Amino acid sequence: AEQTMGKWGEYVTVEFDEGIAWVTLNRPKQRNAINPGIVWEMNAIMDALEEDERCKVMVVTGAGESFSAGMDLKEYFRATDKVPPIQRERLFRANAAWQWRRMMCYPKPTISMVNGWCFGGAFQFLVGCDLAIASEEAIFGLSEINWGIIPAGIVTKSVLETMSFRDAMYYIMTGETFNGRQAAEMKLVNKAVAPEDLKEETRKLAMTLIGKNPFVLRQAKTACRFTRDMSWEQAGEYLMAKSDQTELRDPENGRNVGMSQFLDEKSFRPGLGAYRR
Ligand code: ACO
Repeated sequence: AEQTMGKWGEYVTVEFDEGIAWVTLNRPKQRNAINPGIVWEMNAIMDALEEDERCKVMVVTGAGESFSAGMDLKEYFRATDKVPPIQRERLFRANAAWQWRRMMCYPKPTISMVNGWCFGGAFQFLVGCDLAIASEEAIFGLSEINWGIIPAGIVTKSVLETMSFRDAMYYIMTGETFNGRQAAEMKLVNKAVAPEDLKEETRKLAMTLIGKNPFVLRQAKTACRFTRDMSWEQAGEYLMAKSDQTELRDPENGRNVGMSQFLDEKSFRPGLGAYRR
Protein backbone atom coordinates (compact mmCIF):
# COMPACT_ATOMS: atom_id res chain seq x y z
CA ALA A 1 0.00 0.00 0.00
CA GLU A 2 1.18 3.48 -0.67
CA GLN A 3 2.26 4.97 2.60
CA THR A 4 0.67 8.35 2.02
CA MET A 5 -0.99 8.75 5.41
CA GLY A 6 1.85 7.76 7.68
CA LYS A 7 4.58 5.20 7.66
CA TRP A 8 4.88 1.68 8.94
CA GLY A 9 7.21 -1.25 8.76
CA GLU A 10 9.23 -0.63 11.89
CA TYR A 11 6.79 -2.24 14.33
CA VAL A 12 4.11 -3.69 12.06
CA THR A 13 4.46 -5.38 8.69
CA VAL A 14 1.88 -5.86 5.93
CA GLU A 15 1.98 -8.63 3.37
CA PHE A 16 -0.51 -8.97 0.52
CA ASP A 17 -1.48 -12.37 -0.72
CA GLU A 18 -4.51 -13.24 -2.88
CA GLY A 19 -6.73 -10.54 -1.38
CA ILE A 20 -5.59 -11.11 2.18
CA ALA A 21 -3.58 -8.43 3.97
CA TRP A 22 -1.58 -10.18 6.67
CA VAL A 23 -0.90 -7.48 9.27
CA THR A 24 1.75 -8.65 11.70
CA LEU A 25 2.67 -6.94 14.96
CA ASN A 26 6.40 -7.22 14.80
CA ARG A 27 8.09 -6.79 18.18
CA PRO A 28 8.65 -10.47 18.92
CA LYS A 29 11.37 -9.77 21.51
CA GLN A 30 8.87 -7.72 23.52
CA ARG A 31 6.18 -10.34 22.87
CA ASN A 32 4.45 -7.84 20.54
CA ALA A 33 3.47 -5.62 23.46
CA ILE A 34 1.65 -2.55 22.13
CA ASN A 35 3.94 0.49 22.23
CA PRO A 36 3.13 3.93 20.78
CA GLY A 37 4.94 2.94 17.58
CA ILE A 38 2.44 0.13 16.96
CA VAL A 39 -0.45 2.51 17.71
CA TRP A 40 0.60 5.08 15.08
CA GLU A 41 1.54 2.45 12.53
CA MET A 42 -1.72 0.52 12.92
CA ASN A 43 -3.74 3.69 12.37
CA ALA A 44 -1.75 4.46 9.23
CA ILE A 45 -2.15 0.89 7.99
CA MET A 46 -5.91 0.98 8.52
CA ASP A 47 -6.13 4.28 6.64
CA ALA A 48 -4.27 2.76 3.72
CA LEU A 49 -5.86 -0.69 3.60
CA GLU A 50 -9.42 0.56 3.60
CA GLU A 51 -8.85 1.90 0.09
CA ASP A 52 -6.29 -0.62 -1.13
CA GLU A 53 -7.73 -3.11 -3.61
CA ARG A 54 -5.14 -5.68 -2.63
CA CYS A 55 -6.80 -5.95 0.76
CA LYS A 56 -10.17 -7.66 0.74
CA VAL A 57 -9.77 -9.18 4.21
CA MET A 58 -7.45 -7.94 6.97
CA VAL A 59 -5.86 -10.55 9.23
CA VAL A 60 -4.16 -9.31 12.41
CA THR A 61 -1.53 -11.53 13.96
CA GLY A 62 1.79 -11.45 15.80
CA ALA A 63 5.37 -12.30 14.87
CA GLY A 64 7.11 -15.16 16.64
CA GLU A 65 5.56 -16.98 19.57
CA SER A 66 3.15 -14.23 20.64
CA PHE A 67 -0.07 -12.69 19.40
CA SER A 68 0.41 -9.77 21.78
CA ALA A 69 1.36 -9.44 25.45
CA GLY A 70 -1.04 -6.50 25.79
CA MET A 71 -0.12 -2.89 26.35
CA ASP A 72 3.58 -2.13 26.73
CA LEU A 73 3.92 -1.37 30.43
CA LYS A 74 7.13 0.55 29.88
CA GLU A 75 6.53 2.56 26.71
CA TYR A 76 2.74 2.92 26.71
CA PHE A 77 2.13 3.38 30.45
CA ARG A 78 5.21 4.30 32.49
CA ALA A 79 6.73 6.55 29.83
CA THR A 80 3.48 8.48 29.41
CA ASP A 81 2.77 8.96 33.13
CA LYS A 82 4.76 12.20 33.04
CA VAL A 83 3.92 13.69 29.66
CA PRO A 84 1.31 16.47 29.44
CA PRO A 85 -2.14 14.88 29.92
CA ILE A 86 -3.34 16.02 26.51
CA GLN A 87 -0.53 14.10 24.81
CA ARG A 88 -1.33 10.99 26.79
CA GLU A 89 -5.01 11.32 25.90
CA ARG A 90 -4.13 11.66 22.24
CA LEU A 91 -2.13 8.44 22.36
CA PHE A 92 -4.89 6.61 24.24
CA ARG A 93 -7.46 7.89 21.74
CA ALA A 94 -5.35 6.70 18.82
CA ASN A 95 -5.02 3.32 20.49
CA ALA A 96 -8.77 3.03 21.05
CA ALA A 97 -9.25 3.96 17.39
CA TRP A 98 -7.32 1.08 15.88
CA GLN A 99 -8.10 -1.48 18.57
CA TRP A 100 -11.87 -1.07 18.68
CA ARG A 101 -13.56 2.18 17.53
CA ARG A 102 -12.47 1.89 13.92
CA MET A 103 -11.86 -1.82 14.02
CA MET A 104 -15.44 -2.71 14.95
CA CYS A 105 -16.88 -1.01 11.87
CA TYR A 106 -13.91 -1.38 9.56
CA PRO A 107 -15.22 -1.43 5.99
CA LYS A 108 -13.46 -4.72 5.25
CA PRO A 109 -13.78 -8.00 7.12
CA THR A 110 -11.20 -8.54 9.86
CA ILE A 111 -9.86 -11.72 11.46
CA SER A 112 -7.63 -12.09 14.52
CA MET A 113 -5.25 -14.99 14.10
CA VAL A 114 -4.11 -15.76 17.65
CA ASN A 115 -0.82 -17.56 17.27
CA GLY A 116 0.43 -17.35 20.87
CA TRP A 117 0.45 -15.22 24.04
CA CYS A 118 -2.61 -12.97 24.27
CA PHE A 119 -2.93 -10.76 27.34
CA GLY A 120 -4.80 -7.74 28.68
CA GLY A 121 -5.04 -4.97 26.10
CA ALA A 122 -4.74 -7.52 23.29
CA PHE A 123 -8.32 -8.55 24.06
CA GLN A 124 -9.44 -5.20 22.66
CA PHE A 125 -8.42 -5.90 19.09
CA LEU A 126 -9.06 -9.62 19.50
CA VAL A 127 -12.73 -8.74 20.09
CA GLY A 128 -12.59 -5.66 17.84
CA CYS A 129 -11.96 -7.96 14.86
CA ASP A 130 -15.06 -9.57 13.35
CA LEU A 131 -13.81 -13.15 13.67
CA ALA A 132 -11.02 -14.92 15.50
CA ILE A 133 -9.12 -18.18 15.07
CA ALA A 134 -6.61 -19.37 17.64
CA SER A 135 -3.91 -21.95 17.88
CA GLU A 136 -5.04 -24.59 20.38
CA GLU A 137 -1.82 -23.86 22.22
CA ALA A 138 -2.14 -20.08 22.40
CA ILE A 139 -2.27 -18.82 25.99
CA PHE A 140 -4.77 -16.13 26.94
CA GLY A 141 -5.01 -14.19 30.18
CA LEU A 142 -6.72 -11.19 31.73
CA SER A 143 -3.61 -10.55 33.74
CA GLU A 144 -4.50 -7.00 34.82
CA ILE A 145 -5.40 -8.14 38.33
CA ASN A 146 -1.87 -9.60 38.62
CA TRP A 147 -0.48 -6.13 37.98
CA GLY A 148 -2.79 -4.42 40.43
CA ILE A 149 -4.89 -2.74 37.75
CA ILE A 150 -8.39 -3.34 36.42
CA PRO A 151 -9.05 -4.38 32.81
CA ALA A 152 -9.66 -0.86 31.58
CA GLY A 153 -9.57 0.74 28.18
CA ILE A 154 -12.42 -1.30 26.79
CA VAL A 155 -11.15 -4.72 27.91
CA THR A 156 -13.90 -5.47 30.44
CA LYS A 157 -16.61 -4.52 27.97
CA SER A 158 -14.96 -6.58 25.21
CA VAL A 159 -14.82 -9.64 27.42
CA LEU A 160 -18.43 -9.26 28.56
CA GLU A 161 -19.50 -8.90 24.94
CA THR A 162 -18.05 -12.29 23.98
CA MET A 163 -17.69 -14.54 27.03
CA SER A 164 -20.40 -15.58 29.46
CA PHE A 165 -20.79 -13.43 32.56
CA ARG A 166 -19.42 -16.19 34.82
CA ASP A 167 -16.38 -16.80 32.60
CA ALA A 168 -15.69 -13.07 32.32
CA MET A 169 -15.90 -12.62 36.11
CA TYR A 170 -13.78 -15.72 36.72
CA TYR A 171 -10.90 -14.76 34.45
CA ILE A 172 -10.98 -11.07 35.34
CA MET A 173 -10.90 -11.89 39.07
CA THR A 174 -8.41 -14.78 39.07
CA GLY A 175 -6.07 -13.67 36.27
CA GLU A 176 -5.72 -17.40 35.45
CA THR A 177 -4.66 -18.28 31.93
CA PHE A 178 -6.62 -20.44 29.48
CA ASN A 179 -5.63 -21.97 26.16
CA GLY A 180 -6.95 -21.68 22.62
CA ARG A 181 -9.14 -24.77 22.95
CA GLN A 182 -10.82 -23.28 26.03
CA ALA A 183 -11.14 -19.92 24.27
CA ALA A 184 -13.08 -21.68 21.48
CA GLU A 185 -15.29 -23.51 23.98
CA MET A 186 -16.09 -20.16 25.63
CA LYS A 187 -16.69 -18.63 22.18
CA LEU A 188 -14.11 -15.93 22.72
CA VAL A 189 -12.75 -17.18 19.37
CA ASN A 190 -14.65 -18.91 16.58
CA LYS A 191 -12.40 -21.95 16.61
CA ALA A 192 -9.09 -23.34 17.68
CA VAL A 193 -6.87 -25.43 15.44
CA ALA A 194 -3.51 -27.17 15.68
CA PRO A 195 -0.69 -24.61 15.50
CA GLU A 196 0.59 -26.02 12.20
CA ASP A 197 -2.86 -25.56 10.60
CA LEU A 198 -3.48 -22.04 11.89
CA LYS A 199 -2.40 -20.09 8.83
CA GLU A 200 -4.13 -22.41 6.34
CA GLU A 201 -7.39 -22.42 8.32
CA THR A 202 -7.28 -18.63 8.53
CA ARG A 203 -6.65 -18.43 4.80
CA LYS A 204 -9.65 -20.69 4.12
CA LEU A 205 -11.90 -18.50 6.24
CA ALA A 206 -10.58 -15.37 4.54
CA MET A 207 -11.22 -16.93 1.13
CA THR A 208 -14.82 -17.70 2.06
CA LEU A 209 -15.29 -14.03 2.95
CA ILE A 210 -13.56 -12.91 -0.25
CA GLY A 211 -16.15 -14.92 -2.22
CA LYS A 212 -19.03 -12.78 -0.88
CA ASN A 213 -20.35 -9.44 -2.07
CA PRO A 214 -18.01 -7.02 -0.21
CA PHE A 215 -20.50 -4.18 0.14
CA VAL A 216 -23.21 -6.40 1.54
CA LEU A 217 -20.67 -8.05 3.86
CA ARG A 218 -19.81 -4.63 5.24
CA GLN A 219 -23.47 -3.77 5.75
CA ALA A 220 -24.13 -7.12 7.44
CA LYS A 221 -21.27 -6.83 9.93
CA THR A 222 -22.09 -3.22 10.77
CA ALA A 223 -25.71 -4.19 11.38
CA CYS A 224 -24.54 -6.92 13.78
CA ARG A 225 -22.52 -4.46 15.82
CA PHE A 226 -25.29 -1.87 16.13
CA THR A 227 -28.32 -4.12 16.48
CA ARG A 228 -26.89 -5.72 19.60
CA ASP A 229 -27.70 -2.75 21.85
CA MET A 230 -31.09 -1.88 20.32
CA SER A 231 -34.58 -2.78 21.41
CA TRP A 232 -36.50 -5.20 19.18
CA GLU A 233 -38.60 -2.35 17.83
CA GLN A 234 -35.56 -0.20 17.07
CA ALA A 235 -33.75 -3.16 15.52
CA GLY A 236 -36.73 -3.89 13.30
CA GLU A 237 -36.79 -0.33 12.01
CA TYR A 238 -33.00 -0.04 11.65
CA LEU A 239 -32.54 -3.37 9.88
CA MET A 240 -35.25 -2.67 7.31
CA ALA A 241 -33.72 0.75 6.62
CA LYS A 242 -30.24 -0.80 6.42
CA SER A 243 -31.59 -3.41 4.05
CA ASP A 244 -33.09 -0.76 1.77
CA GLN A 245 -29.84 1.22 1.91
CA THR A 246 -27.92 -1.92 0.98
CA GLU A 247 -30.14 -2.64 -2.00
CA LEU A 248 -29.97 0.95 -3.23
CA ARG A 249 -26.24 1.37 -2.85
CA ASP A 250 -24.88 -2.08 -3.71
CA PRO A 251 -22.60 -1.41 -6.71
CA GLU A 252 -22.99 -4.96 -8.00
CA ASN A 253 -26.74 -5.23 -7.48
CA GLY A 254 -26.15 -8.54 -5.74
CA ARG A 255 -29.72 -9.15 -4.67
CA ASN A 256 -31.03 -9.23 -8.24
CA VAL A 257 -28.01 -11.00 -9.70
CA GLY A 258 -28.32 -13.72 -7.05
CA MET A 259 -32.05 -14.00 -7.53
CA SER A 260 -31.67 -14.34 -11.28
CA GLN A 261 -28.92 -16.97 -11.02
CA PHE A 262 -31.19 -19.00 -8.75
CA LEU A 263 -34.67 -18.47 -10.19
CA ASP A 264 -33.98 -17.97 -13.91
CA GLU A 265 -30.66 -19.66 -14.69
CA LYS A 266 -30.91 -22.23 -11.91
CA SER A 267 -27.11 -22.04 -11.81
CA PHE A 268 -26.51 -21.88 -8.07
CA ARG A 269 -28.05 -22.86 -4.76
CA PRO A 270 -27.88 -19.95 -2.28
CA GLY A 271 -28.37 -22.35 0.60
CA LEU A 272 -24.99 -23.85 -0.21
CA GLY A 273 -22.75 -20.99 -1.38
CA ALA A 274 -22.42 -17.47 -2.81
CA TYR A 275 -23.64 -16.35 -6.25
CA ARG A 276 -21.12 -15.98 -9.13
CA ARG A 277 -19.60 -12.52 -9.08
N1 ACO B 1 4.97 -4.62 28.43
C1 ACO B 1 6.28 -4.35 28.34
N2 ACO B 1 7.22 -5.27 28.11
C2 ACO B 1 6.83 -6.55 27.95
C3 ACO B 1 5.47 -6.92 28.05
C4 ACO B 1 4.51 -5.89 28.28
N3 ACO B 1 3.20 -6.13 28.35
N4 ACO B 1 5.38 -8.26 27.87
C5 ACO B 1 6.63 -8.69 27.67
N5 ACO B 1 7.51 -7.67 27.72
C6 ACO B 1 8.97 -7.70 27.55
C7 ACO B 1 9.67 -8.12 28.85
O1 ACO B 1 9.84 -7.03 29.70
C8 ACO B 1 10.96 -8.66 28.32
O2 ACO B 1 11.81 -7.56 28.03
P1 ACO B 1 13.42 -7.66 28.19
O3 ACO B 1 13.82 -8.71 27.20
O4 ACO B 1 13.86 -6.29 27.83
O5 ACO B 1 13.65 -8.06 29.59
C9 ACO B 1 10.56 -9.31 26.99
O6 ACO B 1 9.32 -8.73 26.64
C10 ACO B 1 10.36 -10.80 27.09
O7 ACO B 1 9.50 -11.08 28.19
P2 ACO B 1 9.67 -12.37 29.12
O8 ACO B 1 8.76 -12.17 30.28
O9 ACO B 1 11.10 -12.63 29.37
O10 ACO B 1 9.11 -13.49 28.11
P3 ACO B 1 8.50 -14.95 28.42
O11 ACO B 1 8.45 -15.62 27.10
O12 ACO B 1 9.23 -15.60 29.54
O13 ACO B 1 7.01 -14.66 28.92
C11 ACO B 1 4.92 -13.49 28.83
C12 ACO B 1 6.06 -14.14 28.02
C13 ACO B 1 4.15 -14.56 29.62
C14 ACO B 1 4.00 -12.86 27.76
C15 ACO B 1 5.45 -12.41 29.81
O14 ACO B 1 6.34 -11.55 29.12
C16 ACO B 1 4.38 -11.56 30.45
O15 ACO B 1 3.77 -11.99 31.43
N6 ACO B 1 4.13 -10.33 29.92
C17 ACO B 1 3.12 -9.44 30.43
C18 ACO B 1 1.74 -9.88 29.99
C19 ACO B 1 0.66 -8.99 30.56
O16 ACO B 1 0.32 -9.11 31.71
N7 ACO B 1 0.09 -8.14 29.72
C20 ACO B 1 -1.02 -7.32 30.12
C21 ACO B 1 -0.53 -6.00 30.46
S1 ACO B 1 -1.83 -5.00 31.16
C22 ACO B 1 -2.62 -4.30 29.83
O17 ACO B 1 -2.44 -4.68 28.71
C23 ACO B 1 -3.61 -3.24 30.05
